[in-house]
Amino acid sequence: MKIKSLKEIQISFVLNGEKIELKTKPNKRLLDILRDDLGLTGTKEGCSIGECGACTVIVNGKAVNSCLVLAGEVDGAEVITIEGIARNGNLHPLQENFLKYGAVQCGFCTPGMILSAYALLLKKKNPNEEEIKEAIAGNLCRCTGYKQIIEAIKQTSMDKVEERS
Ligand code: FES
Ligand code: FES
Repeated sequence: MKIKSLKEIQISFVLNGEKIELKTKPNKRLLDILRDDLGLTGTKEGCSIGECGACTVIVNGKAVNSCLVLAGEVDGAEVITIEGIARNGNLHPLQENFLKYGAVQCGFCTPGMILSAYALLLKKKNPNEEEIKEAIAGNLCRCTGYKQIIEAIKQTSMDKVEERS
């Protein structure tokens, strides 16, 4: 049996610190809500099947593939996208270090890569190299060879440690 139409549902969630309320189909992907409905095109679509990490966003403190998250699943959640991590017009330290260490080439993987690193640093202030590699294992980069990305994340964690001491 084919389902011809699904009823719209009302959802609300906090996106980059701002409350969002919208009506949407329950089977709409978070990725499409962000890009098409809300115009946040920093979140990229690569594989669409949870394998490349280009669509990574933070939901309730965890890095997730937004191509695999449905609208109903974000109701009541807190979502952070790449547009939400700069503060007062300044890039986030991860963004600064990605630029400084040459961790960005074509840039397609960069938002997702940075948000996976962001989620790691939320739970672990000073991760070791293995933990960094594990955190970005689901994010594919065709350009950089990963070395600069790992350096940029490592440096950000060290900068943050120094800031606190
Ligand atoms: S587009 Fe979501 S994991 Fe590739
Ligand atoms: S910089 Fe091009 S895919 Fe990572």
